Amino acid sequence: MFTPAENRYEQMTYRRCGNSGVKLPVLSLGLWHNFGNITPYATQQALLRTAFDCGITHFDLANNYGPPYGEAERNFGRLMDEDWRPHRDELFLSTKAGYDMWPGPYGNWGSRKYLISSIDQSLKRMRVDYVDLFYHHRPDPDTPVEETVGALDQIVRSGKALYVGLSNYGPEQTEAALREFRRLGTPCLIHQPRYSMLDRHIENGLTSVLRKERVGCIVFQPLAGGMLTGKYLEGIPSDSRMARDNRFLKPSSLTDDTVNKVRALKEIADARGQKLHHLALQWVLRDEVITSALIVASRPEQITDNVQILSAPPLTDEEIRRINEVLS
Ligand SMILES: NC(=O)c1ccc[n+]([C@@H]2O[C@H](COP(=O)([O-])OP(=O)(O)OC[C@H]3O[C@@H](n4cnc5c(N)ncnc54)[C@H](OP(=O)(O)O)[C@@H]3O)[C@@H](O)[C@H]2O)c1
Repeated sequence: MFTPAENRYEQMTYRRCGNSGVKLPVLSLGLWHNFGNITPYATQQALLRTAFDCGITHFDLANNYGPPYGEAERNFGRLMDEDWRPHRDELFLSTKAGYDMWPGPYGNWGSRKYLISSIDQSLKRMRVDYVDLFYHHRPDPDTPVEETVGALDQIVRSGKALYVGLSNYGPEQTEAALREFRRLGTPCLIHQPRYSMLDRHIENGLTSVLRKERVGCIVFQPLAGGMLTGKYLEGIPSDSRMARDNRFLKPSSLTDDTVNKVRALKEIADARGQKLHHLALQWVLRDEVITSALIVASRPEQITDNVQILSAPPLTDEEIRRINEVLS
């Protein structure tokens, strides 16, 4: 029986998500890696328990998180029965559909057929009646946005999700979808783009759209898969993601340019008396247009470590200027 820490809500900062009634923790937990069949079940259980004890109420999944596809939701479902059912109303659970999930023409992209079948499957695997948030995981160039957004609207109206969101949509694609959401009367709660010191593409239009439309923003890969911890500066540690499971983080990402930037950023972090990944997390959260940063951890200590940013001094204008100089 899991008894969460009594002081969990005192440790976390919560930000309002766009102009909605929902507040999210500034650090949320992603279940992309580390909840498939290559991570021991006991580690998965410890990761979720530790996160919740730190006040992390938002767990982010997708239909295809694993490996294999569906496994993160399946493992979460088991944990739901073991630990989380008494705390369901304290949790904000998300899942997504948009990437390839099952064979044939109906298991991918953005059709009504795919999205509605997929959420039904996700709810069964996660052993919940509804998710708090359901995302379209990536824009579909071939399906009319009206069909995709119409399916999301139907999912909310049928009670399978309380809110909907978009992920990986560009600024114009986001504006087109938001127009359709408005027409249907279902607000879009949040956007989930990639953002880190090493990938600032959302600053070229997307954040302005989200600020103007008052839509929340939760960013993924704020540590560039771990590169912004500095752990790859002296080679590839055997217990790191790049050594363990490098499907999405290949040694070829360690270009001279990236390594030089990471070294220079580490000097700025050192001068603040701070770890590089703490600086990287504080940096993505420096503007309140970003509601939350998704962290992923391979062991519980990484979560308690990352939560230390909440007591760190804010970045100064001069530090932000020096970081810009390194990144430009
Ligand atoms: N919407 C989308 O299309 C999309 C796509 C990708 C991801 N996501 C979401 O974003 C989440 C985050 O992605 P990501 O895993 O690439 O995030 P990330 O935060 O950039 O990297 C996480 C990795 O950094 C390392 N790490 C984290 N904290 C650490 C610490 N305190 N000390 C040392 N190392 C630390 C761990 O690596 P080691 O394993 O080396 O220990 C961890 O696995 C996913 O779970 C998912 O929810 C969404």
